[in-house]
Amino acid sequence: MPFTIAIDGPAASGKGTLARALATHFGFAHLDTGLLYRAVGAMGGDPIDAAQRLQPSDLQRSDLRSAEAGQAASRVAAIPEVRAALLEFQRRFAATEPGAVLDGRDIGTVICPDAEVKLYVTASDTIRARRRALELGADEAQMLRELRERDARDAVRDVAPMKPAADAVTLDTSDMSIDDAIAKAVEIVERVRA
Ligand code: DC
Repeated sequence: MPFTIAIDGPAASGKGTLARALATHFGFAHLDTGLLYRAVGAMGGDPIDAAQRLQPSDLQRSDLRSAEAGQAASRVAAIPEVRAALLEFQRRFAATEPGAVLDGRDIGTVICPDAEVKLYVTASDTIRARRRALELGADEAQMLRELRERDARDAVRDVAPMKPAADAVTLDTSDMSIDDAIAKAVEIVERVRA
């Protein structure tokens, strides 16, 4: 049976960094599911059509990391048919042997409700805005406005809103170094695997 680690949380919470580190540590495959929505948003045209036609090579586009791509992703992610079109790909990926780490907003609640480990990674919005501003070389106040807008849209949408699964462990990384957060996440997974 493959082992699945579901990681959810808001933008710039550190979930991507943790997901990559856990995948490397345990020798698991990793899927950043935000990239699927970013690619659909960036393809333009009808988002439902784009989601149905999405190919793994579409995830390689170099413009997917920008703040604009994040906003476009958040908008197409509220469309139920877009989410439905991306569901099977994510479930198949989660079945990768010997295990997989998926990070996003609805992994523990919708995509992999039976995941062996569920983490909800969070941090205060001011700290997340500072991290994102450093990463993108952008203005911190503007990043804060955009993060709040995106968080609100992701959390209140009708379909698969961003929220911790009832059985998720919450990890607040506001006052943690990256190394501390990784060590904590590894410890949580190891407790389940033991
Ligand atoms: O994690 P990210 O910032 O790359 O995600 C971009 C947007 O995609 C995010 O604002 C909401 C959406 N998303 C989602 O709805 N469900 C996921 N599993 C991943 C991302």
